[in-house]
Amino acid sequence: MIEVHVAARNNEALDICSYELTTVDGQPLPAFTAGAHIDVHLPDGLIRQYSLCNHPEERHRYLIGVLKDPASRGGSRSLHEQIQPGMRLLISEPRNLFTLAPQASRSLLFAGGIGITPILCMAEHLAQSGAAFALHYCARSRDRAAFVDRLQQSPYADRVFLHFDEDPATALDAARVLASSDQDQHLYVCGPGGFMQHILDTAKAQGWQESNLHREYFAAAPTDTSADGRFSVKLARSGQVFEIPADMSVVQVLESHGVEVPISCEQGVCGTCLTRVLDGVPDHRDMFLTEAEQACNDQFTPCCSRSRTPLLVLDL
Ligand code: FES
Repeated sequence: MIEVHVAARNNEALDICSYELTTVDGQPLPAFTAGAHIDVHLPDGLIRQYSLCNHPEERHRYLIGVLKDPASRGGSRSLHEQIQPGMRLLISEPRNLFTLAPQASRSLLFAGGIGITPILCMAEHLAQSGAAFALHYCARSRDRAAFVDRLQQSPYADRVFLHFDEDPATALDAARVLASSDQDQHLYVCGPGGFMQHILDTAKAQGWQESNLHREYFAAAPTDTSADGRFSVKLARSGQVFEIPADMSVVQVLESHGVEVPISCEQGVCGTCLTRVLDGVPDHRDMFLTEAEQACNDQFTPCCSRSRTPLLVLDL
């Protein structure tokens, strides 16, 4: 973990603040690549993931953008209400689960709302490296769209397309934008679940290969848990078997028996808890694994996923 100083906080849009984080000893921060995120340890014990949205070559600071989400489970509210310049925070080193494909002939970037944060970093990297790309940024209104001035004043402003719900003339025609026969183009999308689904479904309908579609979720979609039942997990190394009731996660049950599984987001987004499955079929509830990875059924996220079979044997 790294201790950082909150060097600045700025209002970037309605309900969106940016926080500039620097080291306390003036040393450079660990390098990161476009699409990376950090875990931020909040004062009340929560750990949340935020994408880095400054230029990926910067080492003197990390910049994160945070939406004050009315549906917040505490993380964004804690940042908005408690974190001020001058305070110190603990963060993780950057991790990147949303990397740019180096072989892409062209990249299409789609951001919905606060999903602009990793996309912005990608655009700056692609622009600097002379790569072909376009960025489509969708938001409810201009005053809810962060970093618009930075985009419009950038050297790549002519490749940025803004789409605001309040102005139908700017509506995104995803089918038209995604109509292409170029098999070497790659698509990157981050934003609310419905927006991402629309972009990904449209791309697939236009013939895009799954391997060229890249996504990062920042919140899990609400899941209907009313039909959840009980099942058992067996730890392969010790042979211990634990029953998982309908109202508890595998992680919660294991933790109550002293078996620690590393966790962070606890909603199937970050992949921290990813665990190998040796037998049985998981009921995947995460947004972290791709559809192809889920179909292999050889790993799952025990913070939220469950089981389709009475027993799951875990590589623990
Ligand atoms: Fe983040 Fe399980 S803790 S996916």
